[in-house]
Amino acid sequence: MSTQPSQYSPETLALSAGFVPDRETQAMTPPIAMSVNHCFIPEDGSFSAHGIDDLTEAPFLYAGWTNPTVRQLEQRIAALECTDDAYATTTGMAALSAVFFSFLRVGDHLIISDVCYAAVYEMAREILPDYGIEVSTVNLTDLEAVAKAIRPNTRLIHAESPCNPLLRLTDLKQLADLARQHNILLSVDSTFATPVITRPVTLGVDIVVHSLTKFMNGHGDALGGCVVGRKALIAQIRSRAGVYLGATINAHNAWLIMRGIETLYPRMKTMSESALQIARWLEKHPRVKQVNYPGLASHPQYQLAGQQMAHGGGIIVFQTDDMDEIARRFAEDARLFYYAYSIGHQRSLAVLLKTADLMESTYNMTVEQEKEYRDYAGDGLFRLSIGLENPQDLIAELDRLLG
Ligand SMILES: Cc1ncc(COP(=O)(O)O)c(C=O)c1O
Repeated sequence: MSTQPSQYSPETLALSAGFVPDRETQAMTPPIAMSVNHCFIPEDGSFSAHGIDDLTEAPFLYAGWTNPTVRQLEQRIAALECTDDAYATTTGMAALSAVFFSFLRVGDHLIISDVCYAAVYEMAREILPDYGIEVSTVNLTDLEAVAKAIRPNTRLIHAESPCNPLLRLTDLKQLADLARQHNILLSVDSTFATPVITRPVTLGVDIVVHSLTKFMNGHGDALGGCVVGRKALIAQIRSRAGVYLGATINAHNAWLIMRGIETLYPRMKTMSESALQIARWLEKHPRVKQVNYPGLASHPQYQLAGQQMAHGGGIIVFQTDDMDEIARRFAEDARLFYYAYSIGHQRSLAVLLKTADLMESTYNMTVEQEKEYRDYAGDGLFRLSIGLENPQDLIAELDRLLG
């Protein structure tokens, strides 16, 4: 028995897409396929796998390409993102490396958001130029600036929406239109949104990237990543990143993440509802200087959030005076918030991201870019990843910590 993905709504697909009960035992929880190899049964008497170009369908061959458990995960994610295929990787960073090293060659030009997850920014700044790839960092909310940055050799634009850590949004539809006019691929890291909130492919984006480590898994117990998109693009990524970069996820993590995805819809809805209540409460707190949350009317792109986001998401960022003292309280006195550098767990997390630290370690910004960054972040941001606790308990805790 297998399901026909496209006829169901996303909430249902989160449970059913790619799901196959064990054929032999009819176990309803799929077994974890730990085998690296599947015996090769020659069909044409040649005893050679030469010429088999689709390595993702049964009979499976080698887990470096995929395996039955990983394949179920990939099919589920592709269905949730409303597209053909997905390639699941060891981490979110592996997924991003897979995109860059599959599509960029010596002499190509990459445009990347001037604010994005620190490690991907650092990779674009430090590593890609060593491979002869030109990189421009651009505020992707400014489409004129993007258009100006496009060169004849621009091959890829990489966005993040909402971006880490500012929660600034990119107008994905408009950026996709611009990229298409210039025959440039557009990839979007949608880790903060998940398909519950935004489905970038439906807005014209070519490649969607997730760190599955975060909301998609949702329990903080497995690293993973994925790249999602049209079949031909994903086949190209799989053959490069799976075979040559060795980036394919292992079956155990794929299984954990698949189980996490089964509750993705109710989790994201609950987290978004709680985050909205908490963000509204924070806005009124006398010690809080500024709150950024896409679901708040005060967010500079509230209208865009309404167009391309079904919910505000689980992340809130805010500024306070006396940030070191508040950070100390989060780290030492919090009972419900855990002071940790991650997001998307079932438990709430908090961390202070100081602007000066990021400017020194990560961002290589122009004066104008730093000014735009500080409009959102001031001297530093507390990033909250709201979990599944009762929001009133979290508010009481924040009240105690903020003092
Ligand atoms: C937006 C975003 N993309 C990618 C990553 C990298 O994910 P991973 O830790 O799974 O490599 C992160 C990690 O925080 C992230 O926030």
